[in-house]
This record gives sequence, structure tokens and C-alpha cells, in this order.
Amino acid sequence: MTGTSQPELLTPDAQGLGRAARLLAEGRLVAVPTETVYGLAARADSDEAVAAIYRAKGRPDFNPLIVHVPDQAAAKRIAVFDDRARLLAERFWPGALTLVLPLREDSGLAKAVTAGLPTVALRCPAHPVMRALLEASGLPLAAPSANRSGAVSPTSAAHVRASLGASVDAIVDGGPCELGLESTIVALRHGGGWDVLRPGPVSESEIEAVLGKSAKSVAGGGIESPGQLGSHYSPGKKMRLDAAIATGDEFHIGFGGIEGHVCMSSRGDLAEAAARLYAVLHEAEASPLPKIAVAPIPAEGIGLAIRDRLRRAAA
Ligand code: TXA
Ligand code: MG
Repeated sequence: MTGTSQPELLTPDAQGLGRAARLLAEGRLVAVPTETVYGLAARADSDEAVAAIYRAKGRPDFNPLIVHVPDQAAAKRIAVFDDRARLLAERFWPGALTLVLPLREDSGLAKAVTAGLPTVALRCPAHPVMRALLEASGLPLAAPSANRSGAVSPTSAAHVRASLGASVDAIVDGGPCELGLESTIVALRHGGGWDVLRPGPVSESEIEAVLGKSAKSVAGGGIESPGQLGSHYSPGKKMRLDAAIATGDEFHIGFGGIEGHVCMSSRGDLAEAAARLYAVLHEAEASPLPKIAVAPIPAEGIGLAIRDRLRRAAA
């Protein structure tokens, strides 16, 4: 698929999107902005194209991928949609919610996308560039975050380039991602239960408002979502959380009244902090200081998802 040359940088205009859609049709890898993070996209119906994603990310192949679709109709061709799925899709799509649903036998997806599971993770993204590519290609697109497996997720084209380099064929530069945290993943269980597998921009209480409280379903056993893995999103340095003060060898990430070397949001705005989280983790990683300390983040709203990512980055 890819050579040793650097990826093509594409602009999100008609010409760039046309080129990106052609590359995708040929089974190549294109990094694409979404409202959450940049995705490493490939056609989800091709074994070779999906294998290329796993290779480029260095991702263990038991980790299934999210499939992106333009609308509910496309989602229904891939997964079994019950009333709950329909209600959630009507409320939150297009947007930062991924639904784990039973896979249809005639879905046409490459086996590796779901890593052999009987379920599939589907998301209908809101970002105009990703939407334009879904339209132009007419294909469901598998797209994990566009970073090496386990590393900090990308919220800019520069992050993608630094993490994946020549292992991606092209990058569409759509500027920084607005939300900055990966989508919330919800699994709908047989018998009415549901679980949040990965916290994200859509909060558990917003989902509860649509579905009602989940009779906590029996834990499936084992890891279902790498969002659940202990260590993930790692900047590769020792990291300390809830640190109001840093020591001399720590790069301090601030929030609210705590300035630090770099501040996630000086006005203490959690949405701004979420949008900047991965960018400041990339900065912390690049700093000559050997360790990282992070100011306290309130455990409310999207702060819960930020704290989840920080815990895993520190593990
Ligand atoms: O915001 C996002 O969701 C971004 C953008 C690019 O859309 N994508 C993303 O993909 O975060 P990725 O591959 O980094 O995360 C996919 C997550 C993993 O935690 C994976 O285990 C989970 O989705 N997943 C995929 N299929 C699943 C399934 N059938 N059952 C449970 N979890 C699944
Ligand atoms: Mg990821």
C-alpha cells in the first residue's frame, strides 16, 4: 500500500476530497478529520484495506474498528437496528456517539473490521469533511483514531503526520478537531440493558434521558473495548494526576486557576479542555522534561471523559 515517501497533504476542497475518495476506492489509507479526533479511514468492505489499517497502527488485531456511515439507512444495511438504536440515532446522529449493535449477516463488511465479533460499532459523524467523503466514496469507512496503537490520539493533521508518517497514503487537513475526545461508545444488550464502553462527548445521563436507566447488564467478561484497557493514549512518560503543584522535573499541564507550562483552559471551561487535551499531551511528550503532572479536572460532564483518558494515559 504505502512507500517510504511522506503522505500526500490534501485540502478539504472539491479537488482534495475527490482525490481522497479515489484513494479510498482503491483501498488506500486516508487520514480524515472528524469532530472528535482524526480517523485513519479505509473502505470497510475490503479485507486488504482493513488489514492495512491494522498494519499502519501496529494495532493488535483483536481490537475491532468503528465503521462510519452517512446516515441511519446505511447503518441499517450493516447492523440490526432495534427501537433503542433508532431513538439514539435520531437524538445524537450525526455526532459523537458510537453504537455497538448486532452485525447483519449480509453486512458486506470485511471480517477483520469486527475482529470476528457478532457485533459492530457504528457511528454517523458530523464533520463536514468526513461527511463529504462518505458521500463521495459511497462506502462505509472503517476509521480508528489516526495514531500508532496505544499512543496519544491526533486532533490535527500535524499530529497524524508525526505519529503515522509514511504509513498513511494521504491526510486531509481540516484544521483542529472541535470536540477533541473520541466518541462515546454504547453497547445495546439483548433484553434491554445497555453499557457505556467508553465515556465521551455524549454523557451517560444524556443517554439515560433517551433509554431510561440501564438494568446494569451482566459484564460480558474480558475486555470489550480498548477504551477499557488500562493503558492507552500514552505520552510515554511518567504522569501524575490531580497535581496542583509540579516538581522541577515535571511538565505541568494546567487548568482553571493553575497556569502550568501549558493550560488546557485558563477560564476553567471543560469543553475547551477536552478539545485541547490531546494537543497538550503531545506538547508534554515533546518537552525535554522527563515527567508530566496534570492539574485537577472536575469529575462532572465531559470532565469525566477527560479524567478517563488521563487515567489511562497515566497507567
Ligand atoms: O471518535 C471516534 O470514535 C474516533 C473517530 C475517528 O471516529 N474513532 C475511534 O476509533 O476512536 P478507535 O478504533 O480508536 O476506537 C474504536 C473503539 C475501540 O475501543 C474498540 O474496541 C471499540 O471501538 N469497538 C469497536 N467495535 C466494537 C464492538 N463490536 N464491540 C465493542 N467495542 C467495539
Ligand atoms: Mg484510539
